[in-house]
Amino acid sequence: MKKIFAMSALAALLGASGAASAQTVNVICSVQAEWCNMIATVYARTTGVKLNMSLKGSGEALAQLIAERDNPKTDVWFGGTGDPHLQAAESGLTLEYKSPSLPQLYPWAQQQAQQSGWKTVGIYSGPLGFGYNTELLAKKKLAVPRSWADLLKPEYKGDIQVANPASSGTAYTMIATLVQLMGEDKAYEYLKGLHKNVGQYTRSGTGPIKAVARGETAVSISFVHDAPQERMQGFPVETVTPSEGTGAEIGSMSIIKGARNLAEAKKFYEWALTPQAQTFGAAAKQFQLPSNKATPVDANVPDFKKIKMIDYDYAKYGASAERKRLIARWEKDVNSLPR
Ligand code: G6P
Repeated sequence: MKKIFAMSALAALLGASGAASAQTVNVICSVQAEWCNMIATVYARTTGVKLNMSLKGSGEALAQLIAERDNPKTDVWFGGTGDPHLQAAESGLTLEYKSPSLPQLYPWAQQQAQQSGWKTVGIYSGPLGFGYNTELLAKKKLAVPRSWADLLKPEYKGDIQVANPASSGTAYTMIATLVQLMGEDKAYEYLKGLHKNVGQYTRSGTGPIKAVARGETAVSISFVHDAPQERMQGFPVETVTPSEGTGAEIGSMSIIKGARNLAEAKKFYEWALTPQAQTFGAAAKQFQLPSNKATPVDANVPDFKKIKMIDYDYAKYGASAERKRLIARWEKDVNSLPR
């Protein structure tokens, strides 16, 4: 009798501790805080599972995953530009996992999965453009920049912000876009010219549009979908996409190889691909195009059909060697120059 009791108590204890450790998923979240926090709250409320959120830009997230490679503390990497997710896949940091939901996704999201050997998946997409403060431009008697070429004009000196490509996927998307538009050498000549006009390189990709909103800088190079949130808060922010053409990100999600909470990580991953979960982006005022074809598309989501898009080569610019090389070249040839 005593023995049976002891065993069942032990089983209960084991069950409880097993359940406790399974009830947590450690997530690096590379979208804006409002969205990360919203999904953590909703997910905990509906499933009882706690998402431990660590907020990191795309480049910083990749650096963390590289650093913890031998002892991963992360289960899922949610969001952020797709290029570093592809680099993580190639570097063996993320787990091959073929979601049964893949057929429900747009072809660009499925292609992202296929190109990574099923080690990442597209969860949203959004085009790169410029943000500007209408009041500040008017006050400074500056025209709205409508092309990449316009940004080199001396009148914008000190009034443009863009993020640092080592920490920010947004800024790396800009570099890869320019290389594809102009060819590499011309793109770096262009970046040197732009450098003269940049007032500040921020760590995070959304730093520049927030600076535009607060009137700290007139122009930013930003994802178009990051502007409506600022406008909704009453800031005088508009966007434009460059006439020469622009690139888009495929925001991605990956499961980490060696994830300690693998079963729960897969459940969260599946949930994040559902139309219902994908509505929380717009609910948190973030207006990327969601990857599930059945997710309702908010009126604030940029209309790709109205934008001149380049045929961005995700496989090439998400390749580890290429991304590292282009960022190192930017550090050496551009960022080291005086302004
Ligand atoms: C914002 C955008 C996302 C993008 C992310 C990249 O959150 O809304 O669409 O993926 O920035 O952040 P990063 O700091 O890496 O440029």
